[in-house]
Amino acid sequence: MSETLVLGRVLSFHRRPEGVGDEAAFAYHEAGAVHVNDGRIVAVGEAEALRAGAKSAMIVDHEEHLILPGFIDTHLHFPQVQVLASWGKDLLDWLNRYTFVEEQRFADLAHCEAMAQGFYDGLLNNGTTTGVAYGSVHATSAEAMFSEAERRGMCMIGGKVMMDCHAPDALLDTAQRGYDESLALIGRWHGKGRLHYAITPRFALTSTPAQLEAAGALCAKHPECYMQTHVSENLREIERAKELYEDAPDYVGIYERYGLLSERALLGHAIHLEPREIDVIADTGAKPVFCPTSNLFLGSGLYDDAGLRARGIHGAIATDIGGGTSYSMLQTLNEGYKVLQLRGQQMHPYAAFDWITRGNAEALGLTHEIGTLEVGTAADMVVLDARATPEMALRADRIETLAEELFLLMIMGDDRAIAQTYVGGAAQKSG
Ligand code: GUN
Ligand code: ZN
Repeated sequence: MSETLVLGRVLSFHRRPEGVGDEAAFAYHEAGAVHVNDGRIVAVGEAEALRAGAKSAMIVDHEEHLILPGFIDTHLHFPQVQVLASWGKDLLDWLNRYTFVEEQRFADLAHCEAMAQGFYDGLLNNGTTTGVAYGSVHATSAEAMFSEAERRGMCMIGGKVMMDCHAPDALLDTAQRGYDESLALIGRWHGKGRLHYAITPRFALTSTPAQLEAAGALCAKHPECYMQTHVSENLREIERAKELYEDAPDYVGIYERYGLLSERALLGHAIHLEPREIDVIADTGAKPVFCPTSNLFLGSGLYDDAGLRARGIHGAIATDIGGGTSYSMLQTLNEGYKVLQLRGQQMHPYAAFDWITRGNAEALGLTHEIGTLEVGTAADMVVLDARATPEMALRADRIETLAEELFLLMIMGDDRAIAQTYVGGAAQKSG
């Protein structure tokens, strides 16, 4: 079953669409096909043209459904699968009341392994084929996260969280232990198959200066790894960061000082940025990550996408499970659209679907591997059904254009609209 011809309406973006009607930004084949061999895309185009070169391939026909690159979720928390939908006042209250309690359970490898099943099932049911995930402080959580991704053949980025202060004792490492365990995990997992390591100091509030220095030393030793953290999500959090690091110029300046910022740095949330912080992000190439369902759920604030793009900063977009409220990147677009509306900014459906596929891959520097349906990339794909529910089907009867169909999918769609998900050409949904 290593050679397959997958038929359907095929859509893949080459660059970010500049606006409504920018149809040169993507390739669309109404009667299209993707020819997959050994997990890679070997041809893409009109089905009739591709059939001749795929005589020995198994044919899978998705008919009217849309075939896109698999979705990419650039910020989520593996140990929060049982935190999602927990009532709280704001970020710090929610962290202390639920998250820092629940994450203690991930000291137990058997628990991590059981949770990893639900975590990856959730991603794949929602069409997400790559995630950038935080573990808990325990190396066991990263072990389970990576081994299950490897078993499923997924491209995943992740790391054990480093945190050595201001949380329950059972959740703390030390500067030295965080360094040693992260280094060992890099050695075991970074570059193994489709896996990448992200050095993961949780945020300035839970790391001492000694630990941020150790994280900076890891980044210097392993510049090929990613670095992920949180910044400027919530006003109380920002105040606290400034109290703890009172000689830093601002919150971003803390991470800047310890050498954590580069093109491979992912900065979760990045909502309440000051002008100097935006300059530093632009200069270092660090990537802010917009997490709309989380930002609304925790009342954190409204991400300024247009403001950052005007400075040449192309952020990523993500669920932030379990501060985020859905595994679905479609629902993430739905809420993201509304956040930007409140900012007086618009998210066109072409730009939206480019963002959760090619755009996120570009933020990760991985477009040679994921995010498009270009020949040579991995056959990670999602198949979308705009008529997945009776209400969607009723609405779809009035649709005339591809843009309208995509907009319906991102506003009304969720896991029910995912007809199939492919990882390396292998179908993940039964039936
Ligand atoms: N800041 C530090 N840790 C977290 C977390 O787990 N979730 C969110 N949303 N923000 C954080
Ligand atoms: Zn987060």
